[in-house]
Order: sequence, then structure tokens, then C-alpha cells
Amino acid sequence: MKLSNRINHIIRMCNSIDTIIDVGCDHGYISINLIRENKCKKCYAVDINRLPLLNAEKNIKNNNLELYIQCIQSNGFDFLDEVSENIGSVIAGMGGSTIANILQKNMSKIYKMDYILIQPNSYAKDIRKFLVNKKIHIEKEDVMFSEGVYYEYILIFPKLQGILSKEYQNFLLEFGYDIPTCVMDNIDGKYNEFILYKIRKYEKVLLEMKNSKLKNYDKYVSFKNKILILRRCIR
Ligand SMILES: C[S@@+](CC[C@H](N)C(=O)[O-])C[C@H]1O[C@@H](n2cnc3c(N)ncnc32)[C@H](O)[C@@H]1O
Repeated sequence: MKLSNRINHIIRMCNSIDTIIDVGCDHGYISINLIRENKCKKCYAVDINRLPLLNAEKNIKNNNLELYIQCIQSNGFDFLDEVSENIGSVIAGMGGSTIANILQKNMSKIYKMDYILIQPNSYAKDIRKFLVNKKIHIEKEDVMFSEGVYYEYILIFPKLQGILSKEYQNFLLEFGYDIPTCVMDNIDGKYNEFILYKIRKYEKVLLEMKNSKLKNYDKYVSFKNKILILRRCIR
């Protein structure tokens, strides 16, 4: 089974724990590799739809892992009666607002989990804004380039209260939650390429605004400022 950089990085970012719930498991590759890499003893492969679950069941069987991975059809965490100790979760490959809805539906269960690794495929800003508004502790953010796409990763520790420094808050607000906080620190220039990619996107917006008949001066200045801040993050 050849895994993408995107999925490999999900497995790497998961801390070892007794049980991991893989919400939106689809093919089941994340569950299978969490067990293979000894990240957990037991995995719940959860999907809202029956067809993906059948696919996961087949892949799990082919890997002889039926004893360690249980497939469950459920809307997010609805299937859980209660959350015991040592439970982590992965929610990957969905849009940011879908992930926010999954969390919102079962907040009391979420607050009892040790960690949740979130990997939105789009609209990361929606889930980032949700987490900040709910004061959920963001332990780490990361970015990974895989098959021509930059993927964002957010590791949260829901048992802790997340109080962001004023500096981080201002940064997130300036960008409408569109840029991960790890970019602000950009230790050893790890995110230089990602920053340049974002700058190019913002420059494209500026160009479109310049060519448009409808002038919006405030918006123009705001995008110029975003580019300036991002340039300062390059190490
Ligand atoms: C694109 S796949 C992602 C598969 C895998 N997690 C990955 O990252 O490669 C998204 C899956 O999430 C499932 N899904 C969407 N909403 C869900 C929800 N509320 N609860 C559980 N699964 C959901 C879909 O049925 C689909 O199989």
C-alpha cells in the first residue's frame, strides 16, 4: 500500500494512545496505518456512508486487521455513548466547515478526548475560526505538500483551554483565519515555499482588483498589507 505524503503525515502527527477514532474513514487507509505503525491498540473506522465503509472493511480484511479495527456507520461521534480515557481522533479529507459541524454536534464528547488531528482538504479557515471561537487549544499546526497540493494540519488538545497570545490573534484576524499560525514563527524557514505560494495567490487577487472596473480601495490596501506581513515571515 503506497501512501501519499498527505496520509503519511497524518500518521506521523498522531501521538500514540490506546484508541483512535478515524472519522470519515472512507478507504480505511488511515486506520490501517495507525495500527500498523503502533499508534494505537484499537481503532474505530467511522463513516456516515455505507459504501465507503464496505471499502474500508474490504481493505481491513485484506490486511488481516479485523481484530484491531472496528467499522462503524455513524454521523461523526454520534455512535459514542461516552468517552473513556486515552482516546484520540483523526478527522481528515473533508472541508473545514464539515469538520466544524462534526465537532459542534458532539462538543461534550470532544472535550474529553486527548487529541484530535484535523486535516481539512479545503476551507481550513472555517475550522480554524471555529476552534479559536470555542477556545480550544491548538497544540500544533503544520503544512505538507503532497501531489501538487498544500495540505494544512491542526492538532488540538480539547481538554485544555486555548488562550492565544494577542500577537497570534491579530495575525489570524488579519488573514481572516486563512493562514496557519505556524507560518508566523516559520522556524528555520520551513514554510517559505508555502508563504510564497500564498503571496502569489494574494498578488493574483490584487491584479484582478486592479483590472476590475469596480474599485474597492480598502480591500486593495488590506491585500497589500497581507502580502507585506507574509514577506516579513520569510526567513
Ligand atoms: C474524502 S473522504 C476522506 C477519507 C480519509 N479520511 C482521507 O483523509 O483520505 C471523506 C469521507 O468522509 C465521510 N463523511 C462525511 N461527513 C461525515 C460525517 N459527518 N461523519 C462521518 N463521515 C463523514 C464521507 O462519506 C467520506 O467517505
